[in-house]
Amino acid sequence: MTYKHFFIKAPIVSLKGQPAILFDGKKETLLEALEHKKVKVFSECRNGFCGACKTQVISGEVTYIKEPLAELKANECLPCCCIPQTDLNLALSIDSVELAVRKKPIQKISTTQSTDTAALNFDIETATAPQS
Ligand code: FES
Repeated sequence: MTYKHFFIKAPIVSLKGQPAILFDGKKETLLEALEHKKVKVFSECRNGFCGACKTQVISGEVTYIKEPLAELKANECLPCCCIPQTDLNLALSIDSVELAVRKKPIQKISTTQSTDTAALNFDIETATAPQS
């Protein structure tokens, strides 16, 4: 028994070079994963017939769940009926995407900076000063 399949990295889907989706298989197709992240992709049949969802692939490979009937160029895919095979970079706009935003790290207060120290002392004094 091999454990190799447990350690396969989930493909990262980028939009114009900006990582946007970790395709972990929770969505059945690339289109569903893109829509879940609010990426605008026009679609109609959602079955690989019409070609409406045709998307340019900048880099990476996809696998088709079922063979599409729409004609495709070598650098295009149909997100409605494919999944990423490798990390994928698509020529789609990132404007409406919900990205995970890294929170700003906690700012360290330096005791050598007089203005910060004065402000910190002021806050501590007002918070703990006894009422008189
Ligand atoms: S929506 Fe028709 S081919 Fe994808």
